[in-house]
Amino acid sequence: MPVCVTIDEVRDALRDAERPLGAVLTMGALHGGHLALVRRARAECKTVAATIYVNPTQFGDARDLDTYPRPMQDDLRVLRREGVDVVLVPSDAEIYPEGFASWVEPGRVAERLEGEHRPGHFRGVCTVVLKLFNILGPDVSYFGQKDAQQLLVIRKMAADLALPVDIVAVPTVRERDGLAMSSRNGNLGNDERRAARVLHRALTRASDLAADGVHDADALRNAVHATLAEEPLAQVDYVSIAHPETLEELHTLDGPALASLAVRIGQTRLIDNVTLLA
Ligand code: PAJ
Repeated sequence: MPVCVTIDEVRDALRDAERPLGAVLTMGALHGGHLALVRRARAECKTVAATIYVNPTQFGDARDLDTYPRPMQDDLRVLRREGVDVVLVPSDAEIYPEGFASWVEPGRVAERLEGEHRPGHFRGVCTVVLKLFNILGPDVSYFGQKDAQQLLVIRKMAADLALPVDIVAVPTVRERDGLAMSSRNGNLGNDERRAARVLHRALTRASDLAADGVHDADALRNAVHATLAEEPLAQVDYVSIAHPETLEELHTLDGPALASLAVRIGQTRLIDNVTLLA
């Protein structure tokens, strides 16, 4: 499995790659969620390329960037074991060379939820994703439903800019107690890890209520807040019951809705979501 550092190296490695070429873009610290993407790509594509790059421009918070885990050797072992064909682990200088000045400015769907709480986040995500697509030239790329808004923003970018790549959504992979797998979970202490279960509990409460016929969005938001309030270590950033494509906040559910939240447990900020079926 060639591990490429430069754009030239990875383009060389992929020059005669059999198609379809599937790409899995990650920031590393690989877990079961990333593996679901890799396995789906392996099952559907002749060639699989993965990237590991902790993209500085999508982090607003210097501490979050500094503490982001980087177990590179473990990650490469996992990708090799999963039969990935080529890996790109670019340096910052390769992605953002001196004088770098061109950015993707995503639209309205990037302004809500994470966009409101992390200004510039999706501009950084879109810019690096477009650059990685241009480097690899994949036919298909796989993204997790765990980051539902990111998936919507990237789909919109791909459609608006006529990118020749299919964006495929992969369901969220969870720990046994329901916590969505995340590279940041490892930063939780024991008490915090226990407390983090409240995210999934709160979302499950919303989906149970919606399934029982509660279609008033405020009632659902209140139920999520009430569940989160049971956990003293949980500090809420936002709770949203929104249209699953536009992410506009709903008054009433008259079709599927996206219930999403961002919660800080100590210093660690976690996000999660489920689709509510009315
Ligand atoms: P990262 O957080 O490493 O996630 C890489 C991919 O794995 C994303 O598509 C994400 O949605 C997916 N993923 C993460 N946790 C998951 C889980 N529990 N279940 C299913 N899929 C999961 O997302 C990024 O990196 C970056 O923003 C990136 C797209 C690489 C651009 O820098």
